Amino acid sequence: MRTKIVAGNWKMNNDLAQTETLITELKRQNNPSDVEVMIAPSFTNLWQAFNSLKDDSIEVIAQNMHFADSGAYTGEVSGEMLKSLGIKTVILGHSERRAYFNETDELLAKKVDAALKNDIRVIFCFGEELKDRKSEKHEDVVGNQIKNALFHLEAEAFKNIVLAYEPVWAIGTGETASPEQAQDMHSFIRKTLADKYGKDLAESVSILYGGSCKPSNAKEIFSKPDVDGGLIGGAALKAEDFFAIANSF
Ligand code: 13P
Repeated sequence: MRTKIVAGNWKMNNDLAQTETLITELKRQNNPSDVEVMIAPSFTNLWQAFNSLKDDSIEVIAQNMHFADSGAYTGEVSGEMLKSLGIKTVILGHSERRAYFNETDELLAKKVDAALKNDIRVIFCFGEELKDRKSEKHEDVVGNQIKNALFHLEAEAFKNIVLAYEPVWAIGTGETASPEQAQDMHSFIRKTLADKYGKDLAESVSILYGGSCKPSNAKEIFSKPDVDGGLIGGAALKAEDFFAIANSF
């Protein structure tokens, strides 16, 4: 049985007071027992969030990290630093990091290695742009993003990898991939993993969908056999919506 996951990527939203308010609301919601629920606040609020949720089943995770453990990288945060807070999961490869901060597959491969070295599980994001889908290159693009950043890893490492398919054209646009489009891509991703590492490993890795996922469409998307949960942006900023999604399996 693969782990079901619903993770809220708060992106650059919520100051300290807003973080505390949202966490108070999240604590009031019913947390499904068979789903790992996570939130990713910004770095400045991680410690506060982590402590507020210490005795709760909601896991606090990070949105990014640097590949080095320490050094002259002004403005960056390392895996060692996250680990010292007790953070056990990090999102890497988000399309916003790729687009606005020039994160390449090569850089992401280094970040993945650094996270795993620090015993931090990786939610690895990837996804095609609209032009790729229109030219029917979406599978090539996604296949290459996965191969370039992850296929240097030993099979063992995939115990600590979660994949998140986030088509760029669906992020923050209100336009969601149809459940069939999500299933087709997730099945392709699993086949890509199986070709390299074997079927058993491919069947064990959780693959999340992200991109305008909301209470009204989560149920249908999560009902697809290769969709193991969601990485949620906008809808994660409202406790009720986030938990409606977490309860959509
Ligand atoms: P939205 O749910 O706002 O489309 O964002 C998805 C996302 O980027 C999660 O990482």
